[in-house]
Amino acid sequence: GVLKETFKDKFAIGTAMNTWQITGRDTAATRIIKDQFNAIVAENCMKSGRLQPEEGKFTFELADQFVDFGEQNNKLINGHTLIWHSQAPPWFFTDEEGKEVSREVLIARMKKHIHTVVGRYKGRVDTWDVVNEAILDDGSYRESKFHQIIGEDFIKLAFQFAHEADPEAKLYYNDYSMAEPGKREGVMRMVKKLQNEGVKIDGIGMQGHIGLHHPEIGEFEKSIEAFAGLGVEVMVTELDLTVLPSPWGDQGAEVSKNFDYEDKMNPFPDGLPDEVMDAFNARYLEFFGLFLKYQDKISRVTLWGVADQHSWRNGWPIRGRTDYPLLFDRENKPKEVVSDIIK
Ligand code: XIL
Repeated sequence: GVLKETFKDKFAIGTAMNTWQITGRDTAATRIIKDQFNAIVAENCMKSGRLQPEEGKFTFELADQFVDFGEQNNKLINGHTLIWHSQAPPWFFTDEEGKEVSREVLIARMKKHIHTVVGRYKGRVDTWDVVNEAILDDGSYRESKFHQIIGEDFIKLAFQFAHEADPEAKLYYNDYSMAEPGKREGVMRMVKKLQNEGVKIDGIGMQGHIGLHHPEIGEFEKSIEAFAGLGVEVMVTELDLTVLPSPWGDQGAEVSKNFDYEDKMNPFPDGLPDEVMDAFNARYLEFFGLFLKYQDKISRVTLWGVADQHSWRNGWPIRGRTDYPLLFDRENKPKEVVSDIIK
């Protein structure tokens, strides 16, 4: 069996693609993407800094290849991401003298970026992460340049511009830490407001950058229910499971307490000990069990990458570590847990 067959009538199963996979140079991973997944998202090449590194100079080469790949291989294509404070080009917020631009100018730049990008892939990119990570864990708005200069309406405007450019595309809000109660409430408030204003928003993506002990699965479940209750699609996006401790203790594990950078830098350089492997398997199975329980509400589950060697988790939140977050190992072989997931 393969993943996409297993979840066929339940939800789409996707992965993020990096440059090597999009260009087909990583043949092993590209093969896995073709065989195992039916949805794709670009890990980096559709972010604003990549698509419009200089004002008015769009670089679509890689994004075009990504969309071609998706069409040729019959994948559901998600565009990630139109408006995000991170990986945005610095010019976006300043004028030629380096002074911060006015509200009007920033809105015009947003409009041009969204119209150009969404317009180019109209009818080809099925869904868009229109706004990414605009709300903090306490439910308040992130003080990004977009928020500082435009105010909270930047979110509404982004959705409106995207809708104008492709009325058929599905439009999503995407964020991390969605199991945090404060964030859950904040996102619900924001989405309800958009709905009340008649703005088209089709779904909420819950980034799944999880650890062995965090977040609590019960809180994650509450968020699935809460978001689905708004009448929108719920997606689990960016799923990966780190086994390494985090500097801020988000693992909740003993090992994270009194985090010692030196000594916890790379606890398992030669592979996972059995007990960690068991915990890893159990955690993935628990989450996939939850996704199946909510298969009527969840429209897509997307892994943030194919195989461990390429995962951003090797470099985040600390550079130069060896992590094991994905479903395929460093030899591009499906991990033991995959056979249980597809059972
Ligand atoms: C990450 C990529 O995986 C890295 O390659 C890049 O250096 C930084 O961004 N939330 C998101 C993703 O929405 O776009 C981020 O992707 C991970 C966190």
